[in-house]
Amino acid sequence: MKKSVADNSLEKIVSLCKRRGFVFQSSEIYDGFPAVYDFGPYGVELANNIKKHWWRSMTQLRDDVVGLDSGIFMSPKIWEASGHVKGFSDPLTECKKCHTRLRVDTLLEDIGIFADEKMTEEEINKIFDENKAKVKCPNCGENNFTEAKKFNLLVQSNLGNFTGDWTKEPTYLRGETCQGIYVNYKNVLDSARVKIPFGIAQIGKAFRNEITARQFIFRTREFEQMEMQYFVKPGEDMKYYEEWRAARWNFYLDLGISEKNLKWHKHENLVFYAKEAYDIEYNFPFGFKELEGVHARGDYDLTQHSKFSGKDLNYLDPQTNEKYTPHVVETSVGVGRTFLAVLTEAYCEEEIFDEKGKSKDPQDIRTVLKLPFNLAPIKIAVFPLLKNKPELVAKAREVYNQLKINWRCEFDDNGNIGKRYRRQDEIGTPYCVTIDFDTLENSEVTVRDRNTMEQSRIKISDLEKFMTEKIKL
Ligand code: GAP
Repeated sequence: MKKSVADNSLEKIVSLCKRRGFVFQSSEIYDGFPAVYDFGPYGVELANNIKKHWWRSMTQLRDDVVGLDSGIFMSPKIWEASGHVKGFSDPLTECKKCHTRLRVDTLLEDIGIFADEKMTEEEINKIFDENKAKVKCPNCGENNFTEAKKFNLLVQSNLGNFTGDWTKEPTYLRGETCQGIYVNYKNVLDSARVKIPFGIAQIGKAFRNEITARQFIFRTREFEQMEMQYFVKPGEDMKYYEEWRAARWNFYLDLGISEKNLKWHKHENLVFYAKEAYDIEYNFPFGFKELEGVHARGDYDLTQHSKFSGKDLNYLDPQTNEKYTPHVVETSVGVGRTFLAVLTEAYCEEEIFDEKGKSKDPQDIRTVLKLPFNLAPIKIAVFPLLKNKPELVAKAREVYNQLKINWRCEFDDNGNIGKRYRRQDEIGTPYCVTIDFDTLENSEVTVRDRNTMEQSRIKISDLEKFMTEKIKL
């Protein structure tokens, strides 16, 4: 019998991520590099499984969405057309005491005031001035700030510029992946036998010079996005928009996220071209925050790229001969945020009780990641009961080599079995398979279930069937 004994806090998740090789601070041996994180051996498996799950649900299971992988670098004109060069900025202030740089809109949000993205520097400063007395620096507690300045988030580079002064004509690391989709829309249309309505999905890195990067991997300067643009006939936007909202909500339920930890947030101040915008928020350890955006963007993006490139991006309906600029429904989510939501949801601490309801050892708390099996970094761990018995090790290797063809497995002969179980619990491994002396006699192994901690004996020849039934895609 088990009972959950503690809530999942961010500190505990961060600590598990480091301890068990899920997430490391970038450049740690050089004292770290702010707002960038590295995925360790188990983290990369989990992130890949999240991406695989998204890709499958977006492309494989749909007849109307195709994939793309566009370059991180693109013509700088794209970022002018999209409005990023002029308008992709956050209002920045600095605490005069401790010199921490802070986002003014976030400081205001903390006291219940919502600054609109469209506000000019003057407008932001006016509200900031009026409320400065109530705002405190989260680092030192002072409320003495510099004036707000709009700070552009695009990350510049010198790629392809050999003039010696690349700042005059910079190239950019992409600030969002979807621009690669918009500028390839015509190529896809002409090559992939798609017809409106259809979508293009892409997973890839994006870069933003975020002013404040707090809350672990929630907001970073280098991150991965999973974006999909769905091109529709003007006037049909809202029908497809509602379909995509439902599909995206269900995607999270499918990822094992409980509905009570999800909610919709409707954007009240829409940019002029947007028809409707909702975010799916998740109840992170620091409260409900944006996980994914589902936006009806009208024809803004294709119109802008048509204007700036001089190319015709209209769609000619093969049946009706109508010509129009398609409207776009966008779904956009970060891999890191999904990763953090999945970990938050899965993290459990349990006190173990015996059949009579008595705690076995109140000091002995089991930490377990109850990840959905398809997301678990390691699906099956295989143990020889004893490390120094060659016949057990050889049999365990044989079983491991057989299972690893179909599942990501781990071989572990370190320490006692109890400790090995606990280690796999912290990684979220659904099944542990132990080879003991009886195995050598009757070809049966012990299979231990992560969630129930129950153990059963299974014939080696039945293992594949058992795992196939239990570990679904
Ligand atoms: N193309 C639309 C777009 O990029 P966004 O709201 O800026 O919209 C979409 O970003 C999603 O990308 C967010 O909901 C979030 O999941 C993720 N994201 C954005 N900025 C991020 C950052 N700095 N760090 C981690 N994830 C981020």
